[in-house]
Amino acid sequence: MSSDITADMSSMSLDTAPGAHKYSRCFNRVPIAKVLAQGAIGTTAIVGGWVKTGREAEKGALLFLALNDGSGPENLQVVVRSEVYDLGDLRATGTSVVVEGALVAPPESAKGQAIEMHATRVIACGKCDATTYPMQKKKQTLEYLREKIHLRPRTNTIASVARVRSALAYATHSFFNQNGFLYVHTPCITQSDCEGAGEMFQVTTLLSGADSKEALEPTVSADALGAKRAEVSECGSGIKALKEGGAEPKEVKSAVKTLEKLKLELSEMETASRKIGGLQRTEAGGIDYSEDFFGGKTFLTVSGQLQVETYACALSNVYTFGPTFRAENSNTTRHLAEFWMIEPELAFADLKDDMQCAEDYVKFCCNYLLENCMGDLEFFAKMYDPTCIDRVKDIASTPFGRVSYTEAIELLEKAVADGKEFVHPVSWGIDLATEHERWLAEVHFQKPVCVYNYPKDIKAFYMRLNEDNKTVAAMDVLVPKVGELIGGSQREERLDVLERRMTESGLNPEDYSWYLDLRRYGSVTHSGFGLGFERLILLCTGMENIRDVIPFPRWPNNCADGGSK
Ligand code: 4AD
Ligand code: MG
Repeated sequence: MSSDITADMSSMSLDTAPGAHKYSRCFNRVPIAKVLAQGAIGTTAIVGGWVKTGREAEKGALLFLALNDGSGPENLQVVVRSEVYDLGDLRATGTSVVVEGALVAPPESAKGQAIEMHATRVIACGKCDATTYPMQKKKQTLEYLREKIHLRPRTNTIASVARVRSALAYATHSFFNQNGFLYVHTPCITQSDCEGAGEMFQVTTLLSGADSKEALEPTVSADALGAKRAEVSECGSGIKALKEGGAEPKEVKSAVKTLEKLKLELSEMETASRKIGGLQRTEAGGIDYSEDFFGGKTFLTVSGQLQVETYACALSNVYTFGPTFRAENSNTTRHLAEFWMIEPELAFADLKDDMQCAEDYVKFCCNYLLENCMGDLEFFAKMYDPTCIDRVKDIASTPFGRVSYTEAIELLEKAVADGKEFVHPVSWGIDLATEHERWLAEVHFQKPVCVYNYPKDIKAFYMRLNEDNKTVAAMDVLVPKVGELIGGSQREERLDVLERRMTESGLNPEDYSWYLDLRRYGSVTHSGFGLGFERLILLCTGMENIRDVIPFPRWPNNCADGGSK
């Protein structure tokens, strides 16, 4: 079929709309966003997409299709007459169609459209059974869509989120590239707990052995073990008797050899007997991870920071951008078990440089959306959050607030004294709750604010201890709608202080010897931060729930790729 189309297209190339997608040559398909933007009335084009709505008119003589191919938020109206195709096959929402037609100006009565297509040929059609298709025309709740995770990209909302997400990822790489940062790929699998919060998912192949019926059978019976022990003891007594009886050295030597062999067999049996439920135990009773895939206890990473620091301490300005995993049991609208994080790390840079970089990066992303995703932002403003475009504009143009943690606590305490009620009490030393963060950003500053110099006891071991010995050079960027968007710090570059902080935090410095090497050999003032990518999307779109801004959300009891479980 494709060669026919190519032949057809070359014969009518003069009046064909420009802009066929380079990698859709088999159909010579023009993306719908291009068709709408070009407004090439009087030409013909081929488009492909999925039917959003199909409406019959003139007693079934023609069909109005609203067609969307994901290239933008707007649909193309395609009018198909019954002579051209069996309209019954095309009408259902969800049908896929490749159609050729003339691009014409719509009648005066058609509001809001600059161009429509009058179909001359339907080239391909993938029918959709309306009686069973779960994505009906009517607006479905976001909760329902989370149960149809594989079909939800077909909705306007999730399609707009996908475009904004892709644009923000591109903006991220552009910003760091333009500012001389190298993109470093840090590992997903690690043996280090960066945040020291014990919220890691374990990675192991040990359980596959434990997951069988045979694993329940004892490998060595108690009787066999007892018999072997008796044999060893008997052999030992035998040697003693031989020696006492003045036996030939040759005879004693041979008996000792037998004893050694028996002891080895016993030791192997004892090890085997410690395989309980298919899991090998150590003598102390714990699981023997030397038998695991990586020969030690291993996890999914909660942050690429520690590893990216190794590159910053050689290449100066670097960043990592990848998935991170946290097994925290938070069923909130701001937490995922798998989320993406952007983590720049800057050598020869202090906390102020770090805050400036964070602010410039967020502003860059906002400007990028304003320049490239206005249609999608308008969609979010119309459907979800009327303030979202103004917010993105304000963030792009207004300097962020800056306030120390101690001052922030004073502001919150004053608010409480003036009658503001918070669920979580406020006092110096608390970890700010989302309600406090949002009050600071939404009510007090009414813009993003960097809070810096947090109490050391609520922050991670790697943050640089301040002169007061009470606070660390940490910073969080708090934003309206979301609360904490970014967490970062200047890093502790002094070997002795870092070792002390590790011990205080319950970590064994020996386990992080490689990380300490960065301080042993050519230590440098350096800083970095982590931005939660999905929270940035919430901020820009005004979507309420983080589960709706990542393609495949993972949260406690939910790891679905399709269907509800
Ligand atoms: O504040 P966090 O825990 O900082 C770090 O992981 C540092 N190692 C970053 C660094 O300095 N390189 O996490 C950073 C950000 C948070 O501010 C938040 O936006 C996001 O990651 N985040 C989450 N997003 C979604 N779901 C979760 N469970 C999140 N936990 C943190
Ligand atoms: Mg944090």
